Amino acid sequence: MEAELRSLLEEARVAFSGADTVEAVEALRVSFLGKKGKVSVLLRQMGKLSAEERPVVGKIANEVRDELRALVEVGLEHAEARARARDLSERLDVTQPGRRARSGHAHPLMRTMREIVSVLSELGFVVATGPEVEHDFYNFEALNFPPDHPARDMQDTFFIEEGVVLRTHTSPIQIRAMLEMGEPPVRVVAPGAVYRCDQDATHAPMFFQVEGFFVDEGVTFGDLKGTLSFFLQRLFGADVRLRLRPSFFPFTEPSAEVDMSCFACSAGEGREACRLCKGTGWIEILGAGMIDPNVLEAVSIDPERYTGFAFGIGVDRVAMLRYAIDDIRLLTENDTRFLAQF
Ligand code: PHE
Repeated sequence: MEAELRSLLEEARVAFSGADTVEAVEALRVSFLGKKGKVSVLLRQMGKLSAEERPVVGKIANEVRDELRALVEVGLEHAEARARARDLSERLDVTQPGRRARSGHAHPLMRTMREIVSVLSELGFVVATGPEVEHDFYNFEALNFPPDHPARDMQDTFFIEEGVVLRTHTSPIQIRAMLEMGEPPVRVVAPGAVYRCDQDATHAPMFFQVEGFFVDEGVTFGDLKGTLSFFLQRLFGADVRLRLRPSFFPFTEPSAEVDMSCFACSAGEGREACRLCKGTGWIEILGAGMIDPNVLEAVSIDPERYTGFAFGIGVDRVAMLRYAIDDIRLLTENDTRFLAQF
């Protein structure tokens, strides 16, 4: 019987080594250790043994049972591990190429703003900034908007408290920079966020401007036009021509609305259908003018000695034109499907 028990164990080892599913292991467990299993059947013959043999065989039988249980346990572990691996490999195609991690890049607005600033820097303009929550004095008063003057209506202002607003343009930086820098020449480029309570496909409550201004002896309207030509040609192409239309800003006199020739239909082809210039051939791009003597006086610069020009350009508008974006809201929704295109 002892020999039979040992050969049973041998048989079991071979059988378990070939069982690679949970079901197969389970079937082997029943066939060896079950109530009607091979071990039980064998041990039923214990009765035939002599009194001396019985404890010896009993001990061996216990050892064999223990070993069989161990085989079941190990077999189940292997079978389960194999099942997990099979499961994974069904879902995971290890031959597929990996997914590249995408790296970020500058937002199209910031990129456009940096480009504008860098072209003007080449002309000797130095960068200045100012606060977005601004005193009425810098945003309006010193820029020649008298209190309650109707010109303030044009600026759809967000008021914070008495005398404090969200700046409606970058022009207050003119005042701050001139006060800080003192005696001209003052040649400054001032980028930043500005706010107006206005919202549709082409207007957002927060948008970006770049202000440029130059004050020195003998600065003329011709200098303004030359600077703007150079600057817009660098941004939109060497063919760009300018058109200046009389306009009004309290802080410039004379003032101009500056249009550039449409770069999308520049040869005049398909002009009627051009969405950029709406068939006119001209795109309104910025506001400009000669700094009003009242503004120079507000910062203690002698308007009899010095003259200056200033212009303000909308960064969002430039970005929309350059990248053919038709809704300004896309620029601030931060949808990565949109941003990834730049
Ligand atoms: N600050 C004006 C605006 O936002 C633009 C401008 C700047 C006009 C400088 C003239 C000179 O509307």
